[in-house]
Amino acid sequence: MSWREFWNGAHSIYVNERHRTLHYDRIAKDIAAHLPSREACVLDYGCGDAESSEAIAAGCAMLYLYDAASNVQERLRQRFGHNNKIVVLSASALEAMPDAALDLFIANSMIQYLSPAEFESLLETARCKLKADGKLIVADIIPTQVNAIDDAKALLNFAWVGGFLIPALTGLVSTFFSDYRKLRGEIGLTRYTPQDIETLFAAHGFRARRAPENIGYNQSRMMFVAEPI
Ligand SMILES: C[S@@+](CC[C@H](N)C(=O)[O-])C[C@H]1O[C@@H](n2cnc3c(N)ncnc32)[C@H](O)[C@@H]1O
Repeated sequence: MSWREFWNGAHSIYVNERHRTLHYDRIAKDIAAHLPSREACVLDYGCGDAESSEAIAAGCAMLYLYDAASNVQERLRQRFGHNNKIVVLSASALEAMPDAALDLFIANSMIQYLSPAEFESLLETARCKLKADGKLIVADIIPTQVNAIDDAKALLNFAWVGGFLIPALTGLVSTFFSDYRKLRGEIGLTRYTPQDIETLFAAHGFRARRAPENIGYNQSRMMFVAEPI
């Protein structure tokens, strides 16, 4: 199984409905805080089920959602098909999007599932699709020294505050026996140092700086904001 197949299948990354709701609410709120203007065109790349996307769309002109998993795309279309400020893209629709169309390109919690070469291809796509004064945000990047125990601690802290600590503890036990852990061991998650990220951004025409806070609840991970040079 590949990461792509994992995300296209049924998984139990969210320990219960409350976790899922609080997760997507938090991500949408954090992304909304980075919207450049109410006129902005925004792409959430590798968006997952993005259940709280209305909160982002409310603060911009157009929100494009793209996820490589076809089953995720289908659920997004069912959920947001009625919303005239949200467009769910297929891979070909993303490719066909005119260059320099976007004010903000955001990829949260997904580059760990890409090889470095795939991440470089994502940077090329972002460079083409962004306007000259646009912004690229890549967040929830796993630093080289952060491990599964750090991730578990961050989840438990989120669960404690969010009132789902017991399901989170049970969820951690299930994760231990899950495909996620198996894949994490076999294929691994791609990690970067801040210098790696800056070098890759620069090689693809971006000036990047590390943001003081990450998107989402796991502050041991990194977020970078980049501008086309
Ligand atoms: C951990 S989820 C993150 C979802 C969302 N961004 C969030 O923060 O909740 C990772 C997502 O990245 C998607 N993904 C993985 N590889 C991708 C690729 N090459 N292009 C686009 N999406 C991809 C997966 O299908 C999955 O939905």
